[in-house]
Amino acid sequence: MEAIRWENDTLYLLDQTRLPAEEVWLPYTDYREVANAIRTMVVRGAPAIGVSAAYAYCLAAQAGADLAEAKAVLAASRPTAVNLFWALDRMASCKGDLLAEAKAIHREDVEMCRTMGAFGAAVVPDGARILTHCNAGALATGGYGTALGVIRAAHEQGKVKMVYADETRPLLQGARLTAHELVADGIPTTLLADNMAAALMRRGGVDMVVVGCDRMAANGDFANKIGTYSAAVNAHYHGIPFYTALPSSTIDMTIADGSGIPIEERSRDELIHLGPTQTAPLDVGVWNPAFDVTPHALLTGIITEKGILYPPFQENLAKLFG
Ligand code: MRU
Repeated sequence: MEAIRWENDTLYLLDQTRLPAEEVWLPYTDYREVANAIRTMVVRGAPAIGVSAAYAYCLAAQAGADLAEAKAVLAASRPTAVNLFWALDRMASCKGDLLAEAKAIHREDVEMCRTMGAFGAAVVPDGARILTHCNAGALATGGYGTALGVIRAAHEQGKVKMVYADETRPLLQGARLTAHELVADGIPTTLLADNMAAALMRRGGVDMVVVGCDRMAANGDFANKIGTYSAAVNAHYHGIPFYTALPSSTIDMTIADGSGIPIEERSRDELIHLGPTQTAPLDVGVWNPAFDVTPHALLTGIITEKGILYPPFQENLAKLFG
């Protein structure tokens, strides 16, 4: 499964807002429309946003647009996933062939996912029942996935008994995307509403948790989809190992700790409607942060393409990525 293609000077994005019911590829030749696709989550997931922005930068160059302006427009699309800014900085500092650079960012992301998958599979116990939150799969990356890369690699080794996919309110990435990817791959999958995970843990039904990451600070605190922090607190209470999997492009060593990570707040409509159905009074107050920050103290390990990091995270992150 993949979400991003480049063909004939055109960027194609699989419209993730319509999955799993419909598989629709949308063509893009204008970088401003790609910025809008990132904002409206046609494409989403930290590494996938970075790869799309890199190709959008190529579209801007093809059209003879002002590249500084294109970079600013793309950078304003979503604030939390650092891969967006990382990819744009890499494109802006490229002196050679821009399309080759964007393709390299795309290819390297898939390679990093496969490598971290292999590292991560080593800590998955035999017969594992694994909980994940949001979608950190092929659809959220250049391909293969970060957290789902670990699950895919462990499944290839015959270690996975069951994957529990939190449905991930309010936009249901777990139900619409993670469950879709896992079922398509023939990996045993059970869907549960986010508020059911603690009860499952209490019954002894979860052996480990692995999630993705949108931005990690220098001390290991990390932002991921809203609800990740609850999953981490629940795992900690029940003594369940809790991992995040991420490529080095998701690490922001310029931010000391999680308090410095910008958290996107999204539209009130996402909470007062479920699809076309109104589910709350239209004039109710709404708080809708798209991400939360999990403190590093709740993490068992950080799975990267360079290996798995254990505490002390600040020291070990500085050694590998500083
Ligand atoms: O709002 P989204 O769908 O872009 O959020 C995605 C997540 O939080 C993912 O877990 C994260 O980007 C890691 S993807 C490999």
